[in-house]
Amino acid sequence: MYSEKVMEHFTNPRNVGELGDANGIGEVGNSKCGDIMRIYVKIEDDFISDIRFKTFGCGAAVATSSMATELVKGKSIQEALSITNKAVADALDGLPAEKLHCSVLAEQGIKAAIQDYFDKKGIDPLPIIGCDFRCSSSGE
Ligand code: FES
Repeated sequence: MYSEKVMEHFTNPRNVGELGDANGIGEVGNSKCGDIMRIYVKIEDDFISDIRFKTFGCGAAVATSSMATELVKGKSIQEALSITNKAVADALDGLPAEKLHCSVLAEQGIKAAIQDYFDKKGIDPLPIIGCDFRCSSSGE
């Protein structure tokens, strides 16, 4: 059912835990399955200098959290915001159709954490990223 990469990220997830000096925290959930994902980001000079996650959910949710944090760590805010659930699923060599929503949660969690950073700083993201990324969130 799952690829080797999904199983590997599930059994050995990267960037697990909380980030004490996070300046952005995003929490998202899926009302159907009840799973919850919290992403902590530390943003310095418009780059994701550190990132952690805590996920209360299925194995695919843990694996997609792990992969999503790996994909955006060290990247610019713009690059992190361009991440899609498809990119996360592809990096894991695919997910079963009924588990694609887990990767959507990972994409939304990253974006929610960056939005929280903008909100806390009182920054208008439009001049920085040139568009309102909340509109570009992909669906299931
Ligand atoms: Fe809902 Fe995985 S089953 S996040």
